[in-house]
Amino acid sequence: MIGLLEAWARPLLRLLDPEDAHRLAILALKIPPYVKLVPNDPRLAVRAFGLNFPNPVGMAAGFDKHGEVPDALLKLGFGFVEVGTVTPQPQVGNPRPRLVRLNADEGVINRLGFNSDGAAAVLRRLAARANRGGIVGVNIGANKEAVDRIADYVRMIETFAPVASYFTVNISSPNTPGLRQLQQGKVFDELLARVMEARARMSRSAGTTPVLVKIAPDLTLNELDDVVGGARRHRVDGMIVGNTTITRPKGLRDPAAGEPGGLSGRPLFALSTRMLAETYVRVEDAFPLVGTGGIDSGETALAKIRAGASLVQLYSALVYRGLRLVHFIKMELIQALDRGRHAGIDELVGADAAAMTAEDWPT
Ligand SMILES: Cc1cc2nc3c(=O)[nH]c(=O)nc-3n(C[C@H](O)[C@H](O)[C@H](O)COP(=O)(O)O)c2cc1C
Repeated sequence: MIGLLEAWARPLLRLLDPEDAHRLAILALKIPPYVKLVPNDPRLAVRAFGLNFPNPVGMAAGFDKHGEVPDALLKLGFGFVEVGTVTPQPQVGNPRPRLVRLNADEGVINRLGFNSDGAAAVLRRLAARANRGGIVGVNIGANKEAVDRIADYVRMIETFAPVASYFTVNISSPNTPGLRQLQQGKVFDELLARVMEARARMSRSAGTTPVLVKIAPDLTLNELDDVVGGARRHRVDGMIVGNTTITRPKGLRDPAAGEPGGLSGRPLFALSTRMLAETYVRVEDAFPLVGTGGIDSGETALAKIRAGASLVQLYSALVYRGLRLVHFIKMELIQALDRGRHAGIDELVGADAAAMTAEDWPT
C-alpha cells in the first residue's frame, strides 16, 4: 500500500486540498497490511526518559492527531509516534482552509487550531492497542474555551497516564489565542507544578510517565532562560524544541508565505536548530531534548543531534518526500556513525551546540 502511495498516489495527493490529502493518507494507513517491519540497527537505539527507543526518528505531533494510526507508523519504521494534540473536549478548530503548502520552499503553514476528537475517543483507541508495545506519546492541550487551561492539562494527565508512553505538554501552538502565554513566568511555574503533581499522583496506579514540554522557536533568549530554569526546577523529563514559528524567515519564495499560521518544514530548520543548541547549553544535561523543525534528510537529522537532540521528530518533509524518508534518514544516520567510528547516537549529541550558539542569528 505504501509502495503504491510512494509510486503514484503521492503526486496525486499533492493535487488535492492539503487537508483532504492528509485525511486520505490516514485512511490509507488504516488498511492492513501496511508493511513488513524492518528490524532496526541496534546502533540506532537510544535510551531517554527511562524509555528504550529502537531508533531516534519520531513522528511529530499533528500528523496522527486523533490516535488513529500509531501502529502503522511504528511499522513504517518510526522509533516513536506522538499522537495529538488532544484536547479534553472534542473541538472543530479553525474554519477551513487552514492548511497551506509552500511548495516553492518545501514548507507548510497551518492554523488548524487544535481540531481534536477529544480525550474520550482518543483514549478508547489507545486503550485498544495498549498491549501492542512501541513508544506512543500523547501530546496534550487545552480547549479553546477552557476557563482554567491548566486544569485541562491536569485532566489530560489523569486521563491518559495508563496508556501514554510519555506526555508532551504543548504550550507552543500559535493557533490557540493566548496558549503561548503559558510559557511565561508565574503561569509556567504553576502549570508545571500542577502537571508534575498530577503525574506523581497518577504514578501510584499507572507508573511514572515521563513529561516533556514543547516550546516555541520564537521565544527570546531571556524567555528561554526562564523556561529552562522552570523546567529544571520542576524536574521535567525533557523538552521538545520546538513547534512551528509565527515568524517568516527571509528568502521565502512561495506566494502563500504571507498566510497566517505556524510555519514548518525546510524554512524552519535554521531557527529551530539554533534554538535547540541554545536550549542544550542551558539544560546542561539535566534532561534530554527532542529536536524538531525542518528535518528532511539524514544530514538535517544529524545536525539536530549535533545541536543537542537525543531524539528527533519530523512531519512537514513527509508531504514532499513521502514516508520512505524515515528509512533513508535511518540509513544515513548509520553511515554517519560508521564514518566517525561511533558506537551510538549518544556520542554525537550536542557535539556542535556551543559552536552553533556563537554563530550569527539565523534570519
Ligand atoms: C499540519 C500540522 C499540524 C500540526 N499540529 C500540531 C499539534 O497538534 N501539536 C503540536 O504540538 N505540534 C503540531 N505541529 C507541529 C509539529 O509537531 C512540528 O513541531 C513542526 O511542524 C516542526 O516540524 P517539521 O518542520 O518537521 O514539520 C503541526 C505541524 C503541522 C505541519
